Amino acid sequence: MQKDRKLIIAGNWKMNKTAAEGLALVNDLKLELANVKEVDIVVCPPFTALCEVSRAILNSNIRLGAQNMSEHSSGAYTGEIAAGMLKEFSVRYVILGHSERRQYQKETDALIAKKALAAHAAAIRPIVCVGETLAERESGQTEKVLDTQVRGSLAGLSKQQMEETILAYEPVWAIGTGKTATAAQAQEAHAFIRKLVGTLFDETVARRVRIQYGGSVKASNARELMGLPDVDGALVGGASLEPRSFADIIKNSI
Ligand code: 13P
Repeated sequence: MQKDRKLIIAGNWKMNKTAAEGLALVNDLKLELANVKEVDIVVCPPFTALCEVSRAILNSNIRLGAQNMSEHSSGAYTGEIAAGMLKEFSVRYVILGHSERRQYQKETDALIAKKALAAHAAAIRPIVCVGETLAERESGQTEKVLDTQVRGSLAGLSKQQMEETILAYEPVWAIGTGKTATAAQAQEAHAFIRKLVGTLFDETVARRVRIQYGGSVKASNARELMGLPDVDGALVGGASLEPRSFADIIKNSI
């Protein structure tokens, strides 16, 4: 099925790659992906590599994302990074509410919503992550969990802001485990999230919003996942750390 939403495939490097290693990776990606126009390509290095990577991808088809940002614009928040600081390096996207931050930094839906508003205020597009744990799926709570996370994490966004937000469905049990959601499981969750966006915003927003799948995406499963009616891209962890595997995911998705 031809989708009118452009695929967006982002590499979440997590806490990997020094600036020098990140530079080498994007230099390879630039060569591999120079002719790709059909997909929005994003790399999300750690903060310490943003400067180097930003310079390297200037005038290329690769865009820059960050992995987190503060909900505040400046001030006494030791260790935090503000949207304005990301803008300095031409950051266009920011991952918010990744399950690892929800788990280890105890990020809540309410905090993620504040961060999403702060990102939009700086014209940075948030990639807002949601997803259930294995225990939640096995106890039949998947839709309830997604409902709560989507409502809470997107609270206060205007319709325009919602259209420019990317959602990422990342079932926690599929992250870094090699265990991908089946096509049926992914499509069902994505359709549920899109319908909910329709209820919370409107049908036009729901039709336009892009929803990525994340969780053990690799070159061998990208084509099937990206071909699903409500899957509009991928948020890739482990397989985004090697130029060949990330480039192959993108090429196999076209
Ligand atoms: P993996 O692709 O390593 O499973 O990680 C997925 C993820 O968490 C992307 O944000």
